[in-house]
Amino acid sequence: MSERQDIVTIDGPSGVGKSTISRKIADSLGYTYLDTGAMYRAVGLYLERNTIDLADEQALAQVLETIRIELFPARTGDGEVGVLLNGQDVSEDIRSPEIAMVASRVSAIPVIREKLTRLQREIGRLGKIVAEGRDTGTVVFPKASHKFFLDARPEERAHRRVLQLQAKGEIVDEQQILAMTLERDKNDRERLIAPLRQAVDAVAIDTSERNIDEVSQLVLEVVKEKRQSY
Ligand code: DC
Repeated sequence: MSERQDIVTIDGPSGVGKSTISRKIADSLGYTYLDTGAMYRAVGLYLERNTIDLADEQALAQVLETIRIELFPARTGDGEVGVLLNGQDVSEDIRSPEIAMVASRVSAIPVIREKLTRLQREIGRLGKIVAEGRDTGTVVFPKASHKFFLDARPEERAHRRVLQLQAKGEIVDEQQILAMTLERDKNDRERLIAPLRQAVDAVAIDTSERNIDEVSQLVLEVVKEKRQSY
């Protein structure tokens, strides 16, 4: 176990409760929470706002050389991580379903993955982080000491997204959110680089019938049990 990094990875598709659960686990262990999806969303937002052609490799390389992405802790205990993009607060802007879709598209581009993977590894260099995303256990931190893969039925995941968006005062069409969820799943699972999949050494948890507290409890129990066996 000695070569393992003191990192917890939580991967899975959208709407499985990854963010809330990861924050809870991080709080409970006293670790830093790393939301890797927020980074892909920030890059997506930048490319969208500046109408950069995703096929223009030179333009992408230039953007990646200059773009600055900084994550900051949520303002409220249960809130999402905040993001500064080139010094500008884009925390709200990156959370729309449209930007989620853009993020899914740009995340299939090799130079973007290389850059963000490097940044994420820098953040995780000293350990004691809970990293959440699609490839944190398979690619970013293959030596993480604790890996989890969360999944749930697509209808349930779409329904949770709808409730989240409604809580923010948005009017949403559940069928449309389900269609977007399925499209994003397909993009994320079928891309050639770092596709969404369960790491061989990850513990799989189906969250369809479990609430946030039950899943968090389960994750913490597995982490603590494994630590005792070191
Ligand atoms: O977790 P999220 O919904 O904020 O992620 C948005 C998109 O970013 C997701 O559809 C795919 C991409 N992503 C990724 O490719 N790899 C990660 N580690 C995290 C997110």
